[in-house]
Amino acid sequence: MAKVTGLEGIIAAETEISLVDGENGHLVYRGHWAKDLAIHYTFEECAYLLITGKLPSEQELHDFKNELQRHRDIPDHVRVIIDHLPLSMDMMSVLRTSVSALGEPSFEWKPSLEQAIRVIAVVPTIIAYRYHKENNTEFIKPNNELSHVANYLFMLQGILPTEAQERALSAYFILTLEHGMNASTFSARTVLSTETDFISAITGAIGAMKGPLHGGAPTEVIHMLNDIETVDRAEHWLRNKLENGERIMGFGHRIYKTHDPRAVALKEISQSLSGQDPWLDLALHVEGTTIRILDEYKPGRRLYTNVEFYAAAVLRAVNMPAELFTSTFTASRVVGWSAHILEQAEHNRIFRPQSKYVGNMPSKKSIEV
Ligand SMILES: CC(C)(COP(=O)(O)OP(=O)(O)OC[C@H]1O[C@@H](n2cnc3c(N)ncnc32)[C@H](O)[C@@H]1OP(=O)(O)O)[C@@H](O)C(=O)NCCC(=O)NCCS
Repeated sequence: MAKVTGLEGIIAAETEISLVDGENGHLVYRGHWAKDLAIHYTFEECAYLLITGKLPSEQELHDFKNELQRHRDIPDHVRVIIDHLPLSMDMMSVLRTSVSALGEPSFEWKPSLEQAIRVIAVVPTIIAYRYHKENNTEFIKPNNELSHVANYLFMLQGILPTEAQERALSAYFILTLEHGMNASTFSARTVLSTETDFISAITGAIGAMKGPLHGGAPTEVIHMLNDIETVDRAEHWLRNKLENGERIMGFGHRIYKTHDPRAVALKEISQSLSGQDPWLDLALHVEGTTIRILDEYKPGRRLYTNVEFYAAAVLRAVNMPAELFTSTFTASRVVGWSAHILEQAEHNRIFRPQSKYVGNMPSKKSIEV
């Protein structure tokens, strides 16, 4: 059978955007520890850092925030498209279709900062608009008094988030903005490398993000914990999964062979947000049990908690509906994709790896002509 390597260990490009150090559990964004950024900076400051290469001055931040606010509204034609999509369509497919429709009428190679801002600004509004449509509730227009993250919660819930909720969601956004050459980012860079337009690259990345091995995991974590229900059922449930050859969502990572630093930070945040919460107690118990039995079933694979496990806890604590977890991750990661698209365009070379043919050769000699 033909094997697929998953390009493990292959360096596809040099980057100045982020370092993912899987042995030491470090994550650095353009020379700053991601965890420090999540504690001390805002979404807007970190997005600016990733896509431009430096933290903004006061004036730059002011202008960047204004630009993001100016592009929050969904263009009319995109709204019409969303209205016509079947209600049974999942949110990631809605996002992929509507973001695709944001494309410029005239084709333009060379992605720009303006294009990045437009997509980053509108993704939360698309999610909120569609969410209300699906639930037959009234769409809440963007509130330009609010930050990017607070406005997202406001559009979904119709109430001003508390400061703690805004900080927690903001930390989640910052910790998930960017993560090296993951599947969706690699997709964005590969698509862009053909010198196609910015929106095509983002659309490809959304398609990659949708899969349960990538962005779909946190929703599965919620389902898993709901299914386990109580601490005493955890071990039996988890063993059963592994005996059936299934994976435990929220564990394992291609790069991290120790604790994922994002999971560590999000765990602290979810504990400070939720206080004494039986659901969080269950999550903590399931985490410990899973790591112990993964070591038993998969010795030497070094499988630990990944970002998705505690992302689920933080998102749940800010009352984010579980069906919006992957799209919320997308609202954040669109920043990393934009940064990579801009970097790829600076010194573009088309991605064209090779495959190794392991199929049969024709039995007869080729007919000479
Ligand atoms: C993230 C992930 C896709 C990385 O995959 P990968 O680098 O290709 O790792 P592999 O598939 O080669 O896994 C190595 C081994 O660990 C096992 N493994 C990896 N993650 C596992 C998990 N979550 N549960 C059970 N076993 C797991 C694999 O079955 C494999 O075992 P084997 O050597 O006996 O075949 C994988 O760990 C996974 O599927 N995790 C669950 C989904 C998830 O949480 N995704 C979010 C990522 S941030």
